[in-house]
Amino acid sequence: MASIAVLGYGTVGTGIAELINKNKERFKKFTGEDLKISNILVRDLEKHKDKKDYELLTDDINHIFEESVDIVVEVMGGINPAYEYVKKSLKLKKHVVTANKDLIAEHGKELLDLADKNGVTLNFEASVGGGIPILKPLMECLLGNEIISINAILNGTTNFILTKMYQENMSYEEALKLAQNLGFAEANPDSDVLGYDAARKLSILSTIAFNEKVNWKNINAEGITNIDTEDFKYAKTKGYIIKLLGISKKENDKIYASVRPVMVKASSELAKIDNEINAIIIEGDAVGKVVFSGKGAGMLPTASSVFGDITDIIQNKNKKALKFNEKEAVLEKNWNHNSSWFLRIKTADRINVMSSLTGYFKNCYIFANTSSTSEEVAAIIETPSEDFLNLKLEELSSLNYIDEIKKLAILNN
Ligand code: NAP
Ligand code: HSE
Repeated sequence: MASIAVLGYGTVGTGIAELINKNKERFKKFTGEDLKISNILVRDLEKHKDKKDYELLTDDINHIFEESVDIVVEVMGGINPAYEYVKKSLKLKKHVVTANKDLIAEHGKELLDLADKNGVTLNFEASVGGGIPILKPLMECLLGNEIISINAILNGTTNFILTKMYQENMSYEEALKLAQNLGFAEANPDSDVLGYDAARKLSILSTIAFNEKVNWKNINAEGITNIDTEDFKYAKTKGYIIKLLGISKKENDKIYASVRPVMVKASSELAKIDNEINAIIIEGDAVGKVVFSGKGAGMLPTASSVFGDITDIIQNKNKKALKFNEKEAVLEKNWNHNSSWFLRIKTADRINVMSSLTGYFKNCYIFANTSSTSEEVAAIIETPSEDFLNLKLEELSSLNYIDEIKKLAILNN
């Protein structure tokens, strides 16, 4: 008998209880073990009094640490008190499964070491890509590869918002509200829309892929709050779609890592990833490019990954614990390769701006002026590096006739 205690009974916790109840027999057939939920921790019992599993709920953390509990599933979210509860569980030699990317991105190394020291497992498949099996394939199936790059849509909420804004002309606020109602967004959705959630996921993926500690706080993270309907229109006229991408790439001794809105070709794989779907393209030196795609957020998809982690623990009792390398990666924040960028420059002097752009950059396409954009210049330029581009944009922004500059990367492959 495997006894599971669950921390949290929100979107994911509810999904886990549902999957465990539904799959008991199949689980027994597959693993030979009975699976039972011993108790579920919540903050506010009153809020849940009409729920199906009410008799399992507790607001007393000590019930979770009872001796009979084998696996603690942490789906509360946030750093505190999740960090203390996970640490205590591991010290008590309980296996832990978590969906909490904030916790793994911040304290993954320490917690994995603690799990190893206590001879237990810490699994966190659901922390990246929701329902997509990605960490296990990356750690096990792709072990024979040196990973070259990761190009990914890693946040369901922002991909949902961008899809609704582009395909249904929904406002940003309306789309965010809908994503929250569907259970995709974080308790504080700033984490999603400002790019931090994707940066944490990219740091977990990159730390495993490149075997160096990629600190999420050092990743250049930009969200979608600055994207408007005009950006979509410009993108469309040149055959692009806007996606929030996490990109990391190992080059010599450095790792380039960023999260930002990017224009991708409408015919590309990533352009076709809609709503809360995530997609992760991993390039390995042996396998080439592999695409992992599926629901990146939501109750049952996320619970599916947690359930897989529980099964893995019960089947691999003596598996060697994963460890994160403590060597900090040297991160490159700018994309210093020849590349194309989309620029929107609000100005009272279009002629001068156009002349500067054509002078600075060898390839420069200026969008035709429209009545709604008479006070700005929109262009696609080619630059030898992002450093060079930033330098030129700094020069421009110091001029008194420039009000605002927006830049978006373009991915042409
Ligand atoms: P949620 O709906 O906000 O649920 C959080 C649950 O944890 C609630 O039941 C809450 O209790 C409980 N909780 C929070 N703080 C607590 C505390 N201090 N003491 C006791 N109970 C506490 O969150 P969620 O969407 O399920 O997300 C949970 C975790 O999974 C997060 O780390 C999130 O990033 C991750 N995740 C979520 C998704 C998704 O699609 N939602 C996907 C992948 C990963 P009350 O009900 O009493 O308030
Ligand atoms: N808020 C997250 C997202 C949940 O929208 O992707 C899944 O990690």
